[in-house]
Amino acid sequence: MQIGILGVGAIGQLLAQQLAAAGLEPWLLPRANTPPLAEQGEEQVYTLELGDQSLQTSFLCLAQDSSKLKQLDLLLVTVKAYQVEAALEPLLPKLHPDCRILLLHNGLGPHQSLAAKLNGRPLSLGTTSQAALKLSSNHIRQTGRGLTQIGDLSGAPTPEAMKTALLNAIPGSQWSDAILEALWQKLAVNAVINPLTAIHRVNNGALAAPEFEGTICAILDELLQVAKQEGIALTFDALHARVKEVIRLTAANYSSMYQDLKHGRKTEIDYINGYLQQRAEQYGLTLPINSELVAQIKALEPRN
Ligand code: PAF
Repeated sequence: MQIGILGVGAIGQLLAQQLAAAGLEPWLLPRANTPPLAEQGEEQVYTLELGDQSLQTSFLCLAQDSSKLKQLDLLLVTVKAYQVEAALEPLLPKLHPDCRILLLHNGLGPHQSLAAKLNGRPLSLGTTSQAALKLSSNHIRQTGRGLTQIGDLSGAPTPEAMKTALLNAIPGSQWSDAILEALWQKLAVNAVINPLTAIHRVNNGALAAPEFEGTICAILDELLQVAKQEGIALTFDALHARVKEVIRLTAANYSSMYQDLKHGRKTEIDYINGYLQQRAEQYGLTLPINSELVAQIKALEPRN
């Protein structure tokens, strides 16, 4: 089985290392217009720091027009939500029609905008709470362990051998037969933690303070109104407990949105609270709290 990883950021590199450790030898595909670390067909060494250990692994890096793309059975897409369409679209005609796409990003949305372009190609979705920090273009440090959930959305189901290989390779991973529900639960976590930490410039743990409780409940109430319209079965108590648990477990972390703004990067707000806002409009609902958070984050994003 040949796996490719599109996007060699922190999560892409972490998964590459985990797949390689399980003997799967994934190929790496940097996004178009990002300077490749290696020429097409060249091996490049990547480093993973884990606790006091340092692991070095060589990966084959493919160019966007490599003939090897046709050999892929699975393409794991680890770029940011707002990069998915632009990164994936030019590659689709170069992949074998049976090559499965697995999207792994914060937020929701690209699976809907891509649906018409996939022409029946199998699509799986995933979400991960593993965390890693990029120290340089080919060097990361794992900063958090956590649950990874993967499931099928459309097209042929994932073959059992591929499922087993992925679940064995990725620590803390599980198969989800209701992947959209799992992604909505993660959406709730991100809809609370990401904008609040970015606006108040605090770490995740700071949101345990009582002053945030009212806003947290309001965000979740609004999310539940939209989820209900979408036929996604979620309860306030379960979501609230999950959000509080993630705040506790990742207390020392600075969220990805906090870090994006700190480094002058665009955020994933359009795919998190903005996704809720956009879906709400379809149902004639208004989401005052989520819309306010979108406006505040947009005002903090770099202009261009
Ligand atoms: O985006 C993030 O930072 C993470 O998904 C999470 C779970 C909120 C932890 O920081």
